[in-house]
Amino acid sequence: MRAGWWKCIAASVPAALALGCATFPDAAETRASAEKIVSASFTAPSPQLLKRLEQDRAQRLCSKVEDAALTQEEAAEVIELARTSIQYPASGKLVGNWKIGEALAHDGAGDRIARGVLEKRKENGGLCQNCHALARGEINVGNVGPALTGFGTKRGNSPETAKYVYEKVYNSWLYFPCSNMPRLGANKHLTSDQITHLVAYLIDPQSPLNR
Ligand code: HEC
Repeated sequence: MRAGWWKCIAASVPAALALGCATFPDAAETRASAEKIVSASFTAPSPQLLKRLEQDRAQRLCSKVEDAALTQEEAAEVIELARTSIQYPASGKLVGNWKIGEALAHDGAGDRIARGVLEKRKENGGLCQNCHALARGEINVGNVGPALTGFGTKRGNSPETAKYVYEKVYNSWLYFPCSNMPRLGANKHLTSDQITHLVAYLIDPQSPLNR
């Protein structure tokens, strides 16, 4: 529906006759057609790939176009959805091996689409460096997120800090609804195991990040 067309006519029939009555599609309509255009332009033989065009409930809440700000209730729902998405390692051990974590944090590998099929050449990387500055002295640093340099030196390596980092990487929206940091565990980009190694890289005093 074109919301507001009647208001436009009622308010100014003479002006409308003279100037033409500009009407704009409402936000919901704009959103629906934008999604249609994006979906239609993205074709792939694999249904697995096309499924990724479907937004989950939290992503929908975070993609509002009409009224950019989230309401308190919506923010609470995004946080609750994040909370229930998080799975912890069966071992209960949240801190893995910082050396594996270091490699992962600098590794930008993800899924690739080649000739319309999903190509998985290797395990996914952590992508952290794309957005964060990591160890001191590294030249190639991202600045979308805050620098993580010295994270463990500043925040310590207590079980609470380990849990915070694990959850933050698994689903960043638990602590910052709709943040630009991807939900790396919840979206199955990283495994629980990989996340424990990233936790170690962030908080282990031996990690180059903290030296
Ligand atoms: C696409 C960009 C992006 C990627 C990739 C990304 N982050 Fe983030 N990250 C952010 C942004 C933006 C913030 C600040 C907002 C927030 O807290 O969500 C942030 C915040 C954080 C915080 C909270 C910082 C604090 O002071 O408490 C941690 C920890 C973190 N990221 C770790 C990581 C790790 C580890 C990785 C890799 C596994 C990673 N991030 C990948 C964008 C990103």
